[in-house]
Amino acid sequence: MAFKTTIEPFKIKMIEPIHLSSVSKRKQYLSDAFYNPFLISSDQVIIDFLTDSGTSAMSSAQWAGIMEGDEAYAGSKSWKKMEKVVRNLTGCAYILPTHQGRAAERILYGYLGGKGKVFFSNTHFDTTRANIEVTGAEAVDMVVEEANDPLLELPFKGNLDVVKLEEKIKEFGPSNVGAVILTVTNNSGGGQPVSMENAKAVRHICKRYGIIFLIDSCRVAENAWFIHHREEGYGNMSYKKIAKEMLALADGSIMSAKKDGLVNMGGYLALKNKNLAEACNNSLIITEGFSTYGGLSGRDMEAIAQGLKEVFHPDYLNYRIKSTGYLGNKLDEMGVPVMKPIGGHAVYVDARAFYPHIPVEEYPGQALVANLYLTGGIRCVEIGSVMFGKYDDNGKLIPAPMELVRLAIPRRVYTQSHIEYVIEVFEKVLTRRKQAKGFRIIKESKFLRHFTAHFEPL
Ligand code: F0G
Repeated sequence: MAFKTTIEPFKIKMIEPIHLSSVSKRKQYLSDAFYNPFLISSDQVIIDFLTDSGTSAMSSAQWAGIMEGDEAYAGSKSWKKMEKVVRNLTGCAYILPTHQGRAAERILYGYLGGKGKVFFSNTHFDTTRANIEVTGAEAVDMVVEEANDPLLELPFKGNLDVVKLEEKIKEFGPSNVGAVILTVTNNSGGGQPVSMENAKAVRHICKRYGIIFLIDSCRVAENAWFIHHREEGYGNMSYKKIAKEMLALADGSIMSAKKDGLVNMGGYLALKNKNLAEACNNSLIITEGFSTYGGLSGRDMEAIAQGLKEVFHPDYLNYRIKSTGYLGNKLDEMGVPVMKPIGGHAVYVDARAFYPHIPVEEYPGQALVANLYLTGGIRCVEIGSVMFGKYDDNGKLIPAPMELVRLAIPRRVYTQSHIEYVIEVFEKVLTRRKQAKGFRIIKESKFLRHFTAHFEPL
């Protein structure tokens, strides 16, 4: 029998209080933080949608695993456990533990990058891009054209444009391509999934030109849910098997376990090639830790081993994707311009459509972030020209292709009543949309400026 309500498939064993606050208090908090949500302290937040990364609630089995953590410097039992799970999932022989995803990125792209190199991806996540660019290499995004229309309902808007990929490989020359990176799901492109067909096409092209093919797999379980439900031929295949099939296509994968690993910290780099793995291992030992723990405690590795199993449970994944969809669809019905279809880990609001009177130079996304916080204590993040904007030689803003605001949903943390509250906050923000004003940046850094920038309301 089918029910209208998809319940959280877990009970609450331990609670963490939320500090409620008034609008006037939040006004002060926000101005003290220079209108940057990254500078607000978490006890000043009611619903924290800043990220789904590292914010998961762990299960009792994960906490039990934590007590089993083997903290040996070398050859930890917990590492063996994690290594076995990751080898099984990725099909890679060489697994390097890292303290989080970007550490794996720095190690790998530090080796593959450098001046004159170029990387292609559906969309490079901000840390991916930064870790490539900091080596002097170039990062080129090439998501399918349709992805730039936030309202177009297509099953796999995270796909990489394979025609463009081949053109660009020819243009730059295959030997200058550091790697092709498929980010699943495509976080910066709206959390949209990538199809198996697309991954196969990318592999095919990479093989033909002798280029390394990598998967940024931090949401590979969520991506598998979409393949199972949307792509022909996968309706009877388990989520785990789909993820394995996809990862097996690549020469390696990078994982921030803070997402689909269902843990608060951790990651890894999985590679098939021995020489590449050895080069990366040297860098791992110098900067992260010995190869049987990377930057992780034994207990972290226990939790990752268990989390990577739990994440593929059909009841969990079904609840996860349905509950994100519930928020997205409700906002859509209210007239909030949301990116469609709704992705796996987040709902993306099109801030340019929400505030059409605020020009991109005045950052409409930042305005929406500020108003959601002021109205209801909801913290979220702009994914638009604050995050990805550049300046031309005259100092004029080159805006990002879209001005989005991301409501990223932590895994297994909020209940349906929290989500109903968020919907009510949006109702209020929506009625006052005409009065909203933009922002000016008064302080910023060269890389990843959104983390530390200071803003001033206009
Ligand atoms: N790749 C993708 C697609 C990501 O979304 C992230 C992190 C990383 C790599 C880096 O992993 O944080 O463990 O170093 N995304 C977080 C987010 C921060 O909020 O989307 P990390």
